Amino acid sequence: MEESDLPFPELPPEEGLWDTGSLLCPYMPSVDEKVREMFLAAKICDKDVIVDLGCGDGRVLFEAANVGCKSAIGVELNHDLVLIGRERIEKSGLSEKIRILEDDFMNIDISEATIIYLYLLPEAIDKLKPMLIRALNGNARLLISAHFSIREWRISEDTRVDGFNCYTKESFADYVSK
Ligand SMILES: C[S@@+](CC[C@H](N)C(=O)[O-])C[C@H]1O[C@@H](n2cnc3c(N)ncnc32)[C@H](O)[C@@H]1O
Repeated sequence: MEESDLPFPELPPEEGLWDTGSLLCPYMPSVDEKVREMFLAAKICDKDVIVDLGCGDGRVLFEAANVGCKSAIGVELNHDLVLIGRERIEKSGLSEKIRILEDDFMNIDISEATIIYLYLLPEAIDKLKPMLIRALNGNARLLISAHFSIREWRISEDTRVDGFNCYTKESFADYVSK
């Protein structure tokens, strides 16, 4: 998919609103069925801890729980979305498995994550790169970026699902050794 075809809304005219270190990307939900397909291809198991950086209303976390992850943690700065997500968690009775942190994803510790999910603009992903590098050098086995690829990083051939770009320790090793 060309980046110009993407379903992101027009960015607002106020300069700097998305790159102030707080809100780095507008809200646009992932498509539930596509996320499920991606998670099935990723062979998520009961050892996996999934983190969605900028989790919106938390829909990705529910898909992760449905395919049998150990836990699913979302981080979201938009208070209204956090409330919607937390209400869904409470109603679903999945609060043992799914959590949403109201925080800036630039500030959180993702060292426990085995799978990291992103649906963010390239500029936001660039800012997260140091954190993503630490994660892939640690516990993370898979990084999934919806729509956008990560600049300079080689996409993994092992897990291919339309609409997503995946990175593993192996594909990431090429970047590190450059
Ligand atoms: C494109 S949406 C993706 C939502 C969700 N991951 C999904 O796939 O359905 C990006 C989300 O990132 C959130 N966001 C942007 N900057 C953030 C930040 N610095 N910390 C936490 N969340 C942020 C936005 O509020 C928005 O909900």
